[in-house]
Amino acid sequence: MHKNPSKKYRPFPPVSLPDRQWPNRVLSHAPRWCSVDLRDGNQALAVPMNVSQKLELFQTLVKTGFKEIEIGFPSASNTEFAFNRRLIEENRAPEDVWLQVLVQAREDLIERTVESLLGAKRAIIHLYNSTSPAQRRVVFSKSEKEIIEVAVRGAQWIKDRLPRLKGTEILLQYSPESFSATEVEFAKEISEAVMEIWQPTPKRKMILNLPDTVEVAMPNVYADQVEWICRNIKNRDSLVVSVHTHNDRSTGVAATELGLLAGAERVEGTLFGNGERTGNLDIVTVALNLYQHGIDPKLDFTDLNSLIEVYERCTGMTVPARQPYAGELVFTAFSGSHQDAIRKGLNEWKENRRTHWDVPYLTIDPTDIGREYREVIRVNSQSGKGGVAYLLESQFGIELPKDLQREFGPIANDEVDKRGREVTAAELKQMFWKEYLERTAPWQLKKFETESKNGIVKCRAKLLRDGKLVELAGQGNGPLAALVHGFNKAGGPRFEITAYSEHALSSGEEAAAIAYIQIKTADGKSRWGAGVDTNIELASVRAVLSALNRL
Ligand code: KIV
Ligand code: ZN
Repeated sequence: MHKNPSKKYRPFPPVSLPDRQWPNRVLSHAPRWCSVDLRDGNQALAVPMNVSQKLELFQTLVKTGFKEIEIGFPSASNTEFAFNRRLIEENRAPEDVWLQVLVQAREDLIERTVESLLGAKRAIIHLYNSTSPAQRRVVFSKSEKEIIEVAVRGAQWIKDRLPRLKGTEILLQYSPESFSATEVEFAKEISEAVMEIWQPTPKRKMILNLPDTVEVAMPNVYADQVEWICRNIKNRDSLVVSVHTHNDRSTGVAATELGLLAGAERVEGTLFGNGERTGNLDIVTVALNLYQHGIDPKLDFTDLNSLIEVYERCTGMTVPARQPYAGELVFTAFSGSHQDAIRKGLNEWKENRRTHWDVPYLTIDPTDIGREYREVIRVNSQSGKGGVAYLLESQFGIELPKDLQREFGPIANDEVDKRGREVTAAELKQMFWKEYLERTAPWQLKKFETESKNGIVKCRAKLLRDGKLVELAGQGNGPLAALVHGFNKAGGPRFEITAYSEHALSSGEEAAAIAYIQIKTADGKSRWGAGVDTNIELASVRAVLSALNRL
């Protein structure tokens, strides 16, 4: 890279529009959508779609709700032409769907394009020629006047052939290609020259498409360009202004949204942003962004997974895991604090305590588009105690009391830190077992018996202390109180029980109970212990010994 990039690159000149209106507007309804998947998207594939793949994608686009679909560039190849003919001859387009075809301003290509449309019910003929200074200079070596003549001739050749399409409802569309890199004054002049030929009226409008063919500036600049055209072009009310953005600076969606604020009424784009280079505008994102604001996008993504499946199979492309709304991971939370917030938000939502969606970290309800919220709990040295507890509970049914979570969390984190990697739920369970259940020194249980009379429980215990037999006897209002008494009487450690809980273990070889006990010693130390046994009384005795062994 250059130390001083200004020697090689220059800033894009902004449009002078001090009284721009678009920043004060908000979007309130869906635009007209036109899918260019079968053209702009298809021509950018390593292996372009064959006719049956195009047919399948066409049908999927229709099912999704697109009413305008650019089906290709029929004069470009036999496959494209044949695809057009099949759609028309097999009557595959519903009455209300417009088939759009793209053509350059060349007479032979226009002739073939018109032929490809014979018998269609409704069609949009989309004429384009490139208008930016670089294209005029480098590609065409033509003056502004000559570039206008190209557009005008193209418009006239189309007009001359319209009588041959009698019976077909026709809409005409013109694109000054590379519009966003063109001087707005020149874009206006060439568009008006085309309008002069086609003579659109408010009743019979033409589409003026303003392509951001290659993004060269920030989206606010594109919005200014669109607003400038909308305000300055003659007979604006005879036009449907359309935006067609690409994504070179990664702002295709923003440019389209701002272009709509600036006065555009129609949007061209592709599913998931497929297209040349960094792709076209992703229509799914813009539509679902509207939906997120409570606006009916007039496209149906109820089963987004099926749409992704068809798209990936037909195009050979993959929807990236982080693609807005559609990516595999966008409704997955990895972080403990996010998971906690989402769970709370979803609970509030399920309990019907809100009318409008307001769940932290989830922009829309994933179930609206056939997706699911997922949690991925991984424990690494930065994870909180919540992740550890969640894994033990969800995988093994081990429900650690909150206070024990606080004790075990840092112990687990230290261990994970030593291993220098994430650990699995099974490894966490091993750590818990090692720390709480597998300690046998100094105390080990050999035998514990109780008898109860008149509410008094007496116990006898045989224990090993560092391998030597110790016998205890005590009494109290329960087996644990009796055990504590027995220790005191025998001059063992003096402690009291400060917390207790137990539950059945769900399954597995220890189909048994687990008890958690917290003790506090006479000198103020607190420790948790845990014990597992098929007998709940023995599980709690083991838990007491576990706590003593951890002093
Ligand atoms: O990106 C573009 O400029 C185009 C035009 C043909 C509309 O795809
Ligand atoms: Zn394009």
